[in-house]
Amino acid sequence: MPENTDMAEQQSPEKISEGSDAGKKQKKPKKNKGEAWAMEGPRDPFKLLDALPEEKQQEIQRALHLFSLGQGPPKNLQDARKHNFRFWNTQPVPKLDEEVTTHGPIQSEKQSVREESYSLPEGFCWDTLDLGNPEQLGELCTLLNENYTEEDDNTLRSHYSPEFLLWALCPPGWQPDWHCGVRVNSNRKLVGFINAIPATVQIYDTERKMVEVNFLCVHKKLRSKRVAPVLIREISRRIQKQGLFQAVYSASAVLPSPVASCRYWHRSLNPRKLIELNLSSLTRNMTLQRTLKLNRLPEATKTSGLRLMALADVPQVQTLLTEYLRGFQLFPILNQEEVQHWFLPRDGVVDTYVVEGTDGTITAVMSFYTMSSIVLNHLVHRRLKAAYALYAVTTATPVQQIMEDILIIAKARGFDVFTALDVLGNKGFLEPLRFTEGDVCMNYYLYNWKCPRINPDKVGMVLK
Ligand SMILES: CC(C)(COP(=O)(O)OP(=O)(O)OC[C@H]1O[C@@H](n2cnc3c(N)ncnc32)[C@H](O)[C@@H]1OP(=O)(O)O)[C@@H](O)C(=O)NCCC(=O)NCCS
Repeated sequence: MPENTDMAEQQSPEKISEGSDAGKKQKKPKKNKGEAWAMEGPRDPFKLLDALPEEKQQEIQRALHLFSLGQGPPKNLQDARKHNFRFWNTQPVPKLDEEVTTHGPIQSEKQSVREESYSLPEGFCWDTLDLGNPEQLGELCTLLNENYTEEDDNTLRSHYSPEFLLWALCPPGWQPDWHCGVRVNSNRKLVGFINAIPATVQIYDTERKMVEVNFLCVHKKLRSKRVAPVLIREISRRIQKQGLFQAVYSASAVLPSPVASCRYWHRSLNPRKLIELNLSSLTRNMTLQRTLKLNRLPEATKTSGLRLMALADVPQVQTLLTEYLRGFQLFPILNQEEVQHWFLPRDGVVDTYVVEGTDGTITAVMSFYTMSSIVLNHLVHRRLKAAYALYAVTTATPVQQIMEDILIIAKARGFDVFTALDVLGNKGFLEPLRFTEGDVCMNYYLYNWKCPRINPDKVGMVLK
């Protein structure tokens, strides 16, 4: 499309905005590109695309996907070693392959923090989203649902609900300024977002107040134009303004430098549907019938006292978690308010089950969150419902038994797949309960903090 070609030929936003005083380098006033891009009538690419029939839009997306194969950040260490990290090499993060033996910040925490926002390409502006405003929350859902996917192969589209985003983005202590959006000036369309939430994190022996950075998203039509580095710089500036200098974040991409590299494991709850959707396949010598039989779960749960968590359980759940997590090298320190926020069940968002002993003591906690996707281009299936494990702690019942019970409950509640990382003590139940290793890595990163690498089974933190 000519409009897309136009955009590709524009001066890279990076040249305008990645450097600290980058915006000042422009000598001649230039045409307002964002406005030109978003002019009235058919030249606005979003309108143009939206005006096409759904089928045509999907064809274009498939073509874009084909043409963009091989681009983007590296997915493994081998490719990362060959990649020139133009942006990340300027940031306070350890270099790839650097063997770190010390612990502490990389960059001084005393330096002054820039007052003004980083410059965006012409035609775009910053907008702090007000998630209490249903319209703005809806705009964020749309941006993420249409663009927050790494594998754009046009089969699944993640479905973030307003309730999920309020849970993920507004925990205790959240800052409005950290819901950082980018809009097109002329039509106010939301085309970029990044977010930070406060967190107290222990890394080896050091406890630090920092942030978790998440939901970095740039509209598909604005990709590869160096907008992501501007978003990252801007959120870092806003975080530093509040006196915090470290962040924890995760990505499947290999960037300088993971503090831990973990893997997703998946347990089919509805194997027939997953096979029909091509999300899992029959292994050699396996028939569908055998696969269904192998994945069959018992009819009833075994653990007595297993029930949904209630508000009154918060203090005991917090104590149980705190004691358990102390055994790890990277973990969150959660107060009661945070435990209530992150664990108390919310319909369609997060579920937590506890095991209550006969004397009223809580001896186990297991929580997971819900991620729904819309299935595209399939004649039968419309939705996919996945559960993602958060924390499983148990002091009396074996973890494998509790997790099997949770799988039974999840299946009964219509989940198609249960996913867990190989972090925490999860190794103890993944293979025995027939989880299979996925091909997606989840790399954990720390911003402005150096420490030795951490094995997955010493990671005590799950990022949403
Ligand atoms: C991630 C995303 C914002 C990157 O935007 P983009 O337009 O592809 O990339 P840009 O040209 O703006 O910027 C490229 C820089 O961002 C870095 N980058 C790409 N993905 C990144 C990520 N997930 N986290 C941090 N940095 C990332 C690249 O490594 C590159 O920096 P480098 O020069 O040091 O290598 C975009 O691809 C997107 O929205 N993807 C879907 C959602 C998603 O995957 N978000 C991340 C979840 S962890």
